[in-house]
Amino acid sequence: MKIAFCCANIKAEPWLQGLAAALQDIDGGVEVSAWEPGAPPADYAVVWVPPQQFIDEQSALKAVFNIGAGVDRLLELRLPPSLRVVRMDDAGMAVQMAEYVSQALIRHFRGLDLYEARMREGDWSYIHPPRREDFPVGVMGLGVLGERVARTVAQFEFPVLGWSRSPKAIEGVRSFSGASGFDEFLAATRVLVNLLPLTPETQGIMNRGTLSRLRAGAYVINVARGAHLVEEDLLALIDEGHIAGATLDVFRTEPLPAGHPFWQHPKITITPHTSARTLRDESIAQIAGKIRALERGDAVTGVVDTARGY
Ligand code: NAP
Ligand code: GLV
Repeated sequence: MKIAFCCANIKAEPWLQGLAAALQDIDGGVEVSAWEPGAPPADYAVVWVPPQQFIDEQSALKAVFNIGAGVDRLLELRLPPSLRVVRMDDAGMAVQMAEYVSQALIRHFRGLDLYEARMREGDWSYIHPPRREDFPVGVMGLGVLGERVARTVAQFEFPVLGWSRSPKAIEGVRSFSGASGFDEFLAATRVLVNLLPLTPETQGIMNRGTLSRLRAGAYVINVARGAHLVEEDLLALIDEGHIAGATLDVFRTEPLPAGHPFWQHPKITITPHTSARTLRDESIAQIAGKIRALERGDAVTGVVDTARGY
């Protein structure tokens, strides 16, 4: 079995060794190599933002494993309609996302950002404790990551709402779905968490029209993709006072360009696309397990519906 590794800006060697070790006993043996133009056809591929040439040349793939949850960049390529695309399915990302969103929510809710500033100025004064019921948290996207985040936030006893394409039954989460449920979801949300995939339908979904419908004093946590947010609209709504602030992990252009207003904005906290990192060992174990399942003819989870875009 041949496995081609083609991941932009990722050190190949530990992945090659890890995949080879995890599949060493496979029938006929395994050869895992970093792809180069003109390489012989592989049976499986492990990719992150591969070039079109890779897809064009590798025409015998049984499956391509995307080493992230989001497949938006991969689906920008011309893919053969029959190619099976498999996304990372948690593999240690969900708990990271739950941690990240919880800290951003709680930091804002408890005023810890304000306390940080006051402490630095020697100001020993209290902020009136907020009421949890005044901070309903709305999670857009209730998939592998969004569901985990919604359940975690519900454990902290915030009112939690979720919005997805299809209705969900998740304990402690009020479910809204589809276009018809969007307005009611937005109107009831104070802290908006975005965990949607980036598709033609969701691009720019956080814009002046939608963000204005959130409850006054809203807070935005974007951990999905930068292109979900119309950045100028967020800045304008913060200036106008409708939005209290934001925690942003993803941006329209990454790395965030020098001089971008988000770098220094006092009401915006930023991190460099790190809320849920791909964990190498967990990912290798998941990919190896799925390759074994596919070789046995079994179904695997995480197969992307390329027409739907996630
Ligand atoms: P997922 O399992 O595919 O879940 C996607 C969710 O979004 C599903 O609940 C789906 O609804 C909903 N959805 C999709 N299109 C919709 C639409 N048009 N209207 C309403 N709901 C819609 O994805 P995931 O694994 O949770 O990951 C979500 C995203 O997080 C990824 O695509 C990626 O962009 C981002 N991400 C970011 C980081 C980071 O470090 N910042 C790390 C990992 C992932 P249904 O359930 O009804 O289908
Ligand atoms: C990271 O952004 C991912 O999609 O896994």
